[in-house]
Amino acid sequence: MTHSEIETIIERYGNKESAILAILQDIQAKEKYLPKEDLEHIGEKLGIPINKIYRIATFYRAFSLMPRGKHEVCVCMGTACHVRGAQRLVDQIKIELGIRPGETTKDRNFTLETVNCLGVCAAGPVLAIDGEYFGKMSSAKVEGTLKKFRSDKKKEGANGKA
Ligand code: FES
Repeated sequence: MTHSEIETIIERYGNKESAILAILQDIQAKEKYLPKEDLEHIGEKLGIPINKIYRIATFYRAFSLMPRGKHEVCVCMGTACHVRGAQRLVDQIKIELGIRPGETTKDRNFTLETVNCLGVCAAGPVLAIDGEYFGKMSSAKVEGTLKKFRSDKKKEGANGKA
């Protein structure tokens, strides 16, 4: 994000230190993570020590200091999903995307995460992509499900073939 874009966000919240959470949320929403340079610039502009900004950024789970993918793929590893084959979903996603839980693809299209329960245990095993739930998943369905979220270019190619 450019310095002027960051300053626009800071000004939107009245140049106040007390608005630091809202400022970080806006940057996280735009960048999908909090780049180090952005945090340094916020610190300079608002006169907040950088270690204080890092404390806030690392305290809240909603913030990430590492680049995140455009799409978040989340596999439920809770008991109900685990006994129905959640690990096989993770294994298949690793093959499809070449990443492990906690990692992001090089093209920054996908980040893979696991959680303990998505609250829809009866539909397990469950996979969520950008908050959209896919229940009764199987490793055979993983490729087709991910395809819906691949880059537009790849989607067009897939549609063209159909
Ligand atoms: S255990 Fe997977 S949704 Fe609850």
